[in-house]
Amino acid sequence: MEKSTQTIAALLQEERTFPPPKAFQQQAWVNDPKIYEQAAKNPEAFWAKAAEELDWFKRWEKVLEWNPPWAKWFIGGKLNASYNCIDRHLKTWRRNKAAIIWEGEPGDERVLTYQDLHREVSKFANVLKKLGVKKGDRVAIYMPMIPELPIALLACARIGAVHSVVFGGFSAEALRDRINDAQAKLLITADGGWRRGQVVPLKKNADEALKQTPSIQNTVVVRRVGDPSVTLGQNQYWWHELMRDAPLECPPEPMDSEDMLFILYTSGTTGKPKGVVHTTGGYLVGVTLTHKWIFDIKDEDVFFCTADIGWVTGHSYIVYGPLANGTTVVMFEGVPDYPDKDRFWAIVEKYRATILYTAPTAIRTFMRWGEEYPKRHDLSSLRLLGSVGEPINPEAWIWYYKVIGGERCPIVDTWWQTETGHILITPLPGISTLKPASANKPFPGIEAKVVDEAGNPISPGAGAGYLVITKPWPGMLRTLYNDPERYKQAYWSKFPGVYLTGDGCKIDKDGDFWLLGRIDDVLNVSGHRISTMEVESALVDHQAVAEAAVIGKSHDVKGQAVSAFVTLRAGYKPSSELADELKKHVAKKIGAIARPDDIFFTAELPKTRSGKIMRRLLRDIAEGRALGDTTTLADPTVIAQLKSQYESSES
Ligand code: PRX
Repeated sequence: MEKSTQTIAALLQEERTFPPPKAFQQQAWVNDPKIYEQAAKNPEAFWAKAAEELDWFKRWEKVLEWNPPWAKWFIGGKLNASYNCIDRHLKTWRRNKAAIIWEGEPGDERVLTYQDLHREVSKFANVLKKLGVKKGDRVAIYMPMIPELPIALLACARIGAVHSVVFGGFSAEALRDRINDAQAKLLITADGGWRRGQVVPLKKNADEALKQTPSIQNTVVVRRVGDPSVTLGQNQYWWHELMRDAPLECPPEPMDSEDMLFILYTSGTTGKPKGVVHTTGGYLVGVTLTHKWIFDIKDEDVFFCTADIGWVTGHSYIVYGPLANGTTVVMFEGVPDYPDKDRFWAIVEKYRATILYTAPTAIRTFMRWGEEYPKRHDLSSLRLLGSVGEPINPEAWIWYYKVIGGERCPIVDTWWQTETGHILITPLPGISTLKPASANKPFPGIEAKVVDEAGNPISPGAGAGYLVITKPWPGMLRTLYNDPERYKQAYWSKFPGVYLTGDGCKIDKDGDFWLLGRIDDVLNVSGHRISTMEVESALVDHQAVAEAAVIGKSHDVKGQAVSAFVTLRAGYKPSSELADELKKHVAKKIGAIARPDDIFFTAELPKTRSGKIMRRLLRDIAEGRALGDTTTLADPTVIAQLKSQYESSES
């Protein structure tokens, strides 16, 4: 075999380009590409300038201390995240500006101005104090997407308590393990949440978890669904009753820049979830500047981020970044297809959202449902679109651009992770020439490289390898909670002193980055490492395909053969002719090497609760193995059905 320095073969070619529209460019915060060079010359000075946009009780003495892999930013500085997200706006005209426009699943609405937010957060901060929560204590939060959720986060931040949000879709066991790992003292939950007209029994799950969480002293319960069967046990209190007498003023605690702001658990490929630790100063500087520049935030904007606050996207781009910038955010409790498949578009139209930030999995689902749903609504208020969470396939990008953005809105394909705290690789909409499925370039002040197995940089145009971040950045995770060894091992051991993202990436001749998915999702066909993402994109490029998941299946000759699981768009039916056509289509798009040996049609793909396809489980099915850990699956029935269908098709 030919010796290659590449770690992964880069096969898919995408040639379409979209320069920034003139009118957008003229009004954008960033419209001079020199910013990259300037920031690269002195990243610390660049980030220090960004830090000046926040309000500090005491200025920092030193910008960065870097003893790999331990970083400290803005050392000696004192600030409070809740003060920066709320109080500082009260001194301006923004005090009566909408901070959060909230819509519940049943269609109920609440608008909280910055002044309202100040009152609610201060009162709840006093409630926390009354319940014995002190600076540094951990507070677990298990809630639906209701205004009390960001209020709870900001109230923790106000008194210096560390929040650990557990996504409301997780099970009782997942909640229990996260509470125990963080040794949380208080739990905040709700009687339930709405999902497709049904109640998610949060309190019931919480009670189940609480049987084995000795660190929890008290529980606060929001009455959201009004379920009469939910009652309070010992040391459990209704949110509204505690709030009734809570004092209105609660001075924000001056926090050290390196004091912990939150823990957020993220699943590793093996073993227990990782408690990603973020601190106050650097994180807030990172989310505030990236939010302002990447989404080109102006005071008139209405920013609709569809993520759940249970994920990092909600922490950084519903709560901390937007509120620190004094933005109006739209927060939505429900799902995109209830009561009908046009719910997001109805929300965009109703609140005249100007920026929409969503995930490729959602976009591919919208493509499958068809254009009629967005076409029902006036989406002309939109001026910018964002994508996050997975590589976006070129066809999904083009669909998003045309059907949702009306060919007028730039798309920012933003790459980052729970661990990175804020966006690291992204276009800047006033200067970047966009290429569908490329996340463009490292944000100013960020140094990222693509390296081969030996850690040598792959030069632009020369192919693909491991994406690494070669300099510390302000919002980086500081450690894994109570597990510094795992922190070192997981992120810093493969290439010493360099942060390993775990993602594959190619870099083209213009120096643009193309994310290829997790390295462990790579296939090896006849000695060539092929990214599953590229084969999936080639499949989605076919008009019949809505979504595809590609895996490697053991093969006597090739090592691995390409095996594809495909869902079809409305109006298409599975057939062996269609399977043949799809195989040919992949061979034509990226070459015979990537041609799938088999195509399996399915109604649904197994996904995590954050929408990522679980290829690992598909590999188990294809290899006829017992299924591995399925606890993070969004819908366990999907995999059971798929397994029995697959097995009967094999026999
Ligand atoms: O594989 C990358 C993918 O999502 C991973 C991080 O997942 P999580 O910590 O859950 O955070 C998701 C929201 C920030 C990454 O390692 N990913 C995220 N954004 C992109 C992406 N892959 C390609 N393109 C993106 N824009």
